Amino acid sequence: MRALVKAKPEPGLWLEEVERPTFHDREVLIRVHKTSICGTDLHIHRWDPWARESIPVPLVVGHEFMGEIAEIGADVIGLAVGQRVSGEGHITCGHCRNCRAGRREFCHNHISVGVTRPGAFADYVVLPAENVFVVPDHIDDDTAAVLDPLGNATHTALRYDVVGEDVLITGAGPIGAMATAIVRHIGARHVVVTDVNRFRLDMAAAAGATRVIDVSQEDLDPVMAELGMTEGFDIGLEMSGAESAVNQMLDAMNHGARIALLGIPSGPITLDVNDVIFKGLEVQGIYGRRIFETWYKMSAMLQSGLDIGSIITHRLPADRFGDAFEIVDDGRCGKVILDWI
Ligand SMILES: NC(=O)c1ccc[n+]([C@@H]2O[C@H](COP(=O)([O-])OP(=O)(O)OC[C@H]3O[C@@H](n4cnc5c(N)ncnc54)[C@H](O)[C@@H]3O)[C@@H](O)[C@H]2O)c1
Ligand SMILES: [Zn+2]
Ligand SMILES: [Zn+2]
Repeated sequence: MRALVKAKPEPGLWLEEVERPTFHDREVLIRVHKTSICGTDLHIHRWDPWARESIPVPLVVGHEFMGEIAEIGADVIGLAVGQRVSGEGHITCGHCRNCRAGRREFCHNHISVGVTRPGAFADYVVLPAENVFVVPDHIDDDTAAVLDPLGNATHTALRYDVVGEDVLITGAGPIGAMATAIVRHIGARHVVVTDVNRFRLDMAAAAGATRVIDVSQEDLDPVMAELGMTEGFDIGLEMSGAESAVNQMLDAMNHGARIALLGIPSGPITLDVNDVIFKGLEVQGIYGRRIFETWYKMSAMLQSGLDIGSIITHRLPADRFGDAFEIVDDGRCGKVILDWI
């Protein structure tokens, strides 16, 4: 089968012919139809310090995908060949305390598809049956291919009650734009989104932001004044990983406000904790998706009218992966889909 492989410990990815993966009795073999590129894949492509430390070489990469069940292991129940599926890429141990408590997203021993186990940028991928998500008919193939990042956005956006609240989203990448669409869908009041990239700010505006702000050009304060927000934002969703964005958020929050942090800084950063203390802020880190509550929530929101179509901006055949990675690297894009059919 074809697979996009981190074949050598150096920058780049290589489309190669490799053995189709074998599967155990509780796993399924999935024929991959569509995949989408994540920032993580870009780190692996560039071979940055994180990738050098984390990625076993050779490795088939990729974790955002949808496809169809091709074969099932002998002990799999509740799934059938031909079902349209996506899947949770965090494979949890099942025996740590958090797993046993049903809090799989806090597993101590999880491994990740396309990071520490063979990935989905290939004609076939193997997944434990319990990680498979059967895609309901109301979700189209492109959207099904981005359920993993939509799940990050959903997990973060639903962490706190945003109904009727003023929400600040820092970072209008694909996940920030998806979160914008979600909080708008579920009834936030003002949704202000910041970035330093015009393409992405336009994407957030199309997703329903009240105001978008290029923080390299414009201050947040006048916009807050204009919107009548004298006391600050009620809810913050940090989706950039930029140190200055986190500090700007701490500064712009109301007393007693709540912040969910999803963006991953590239190293240690300096924050003014006085804002957290004197304003009594609640700050929550977010990792991955709740397994599987997030998947059911986002599926239901897509059924009730959540539309993220405009955040999927590019579609290319898998053999043009080089062009696709250039588009993601350039940043004038939302989600970029690779088609494996
Ligand atoms: N915690 C998790 O489980 C998890 C999962 C997936 C992604 N992430 C992280 O979430 C973030 C969002 O993901 P994405 O795929 O949309 O990433 P992305 O890199 O495409 O988007 C980040 C955006 O932040 C913008 N930005 C940079 N500096 C800024 C600033 N000072 N103020 C406001 N915006 C600024 C960038 O221009 C970019 O558009 C990334 O940091 C990613 O690493 C975390
Ligand atoms: Zn991803
Ligand atoms: Zn565990």
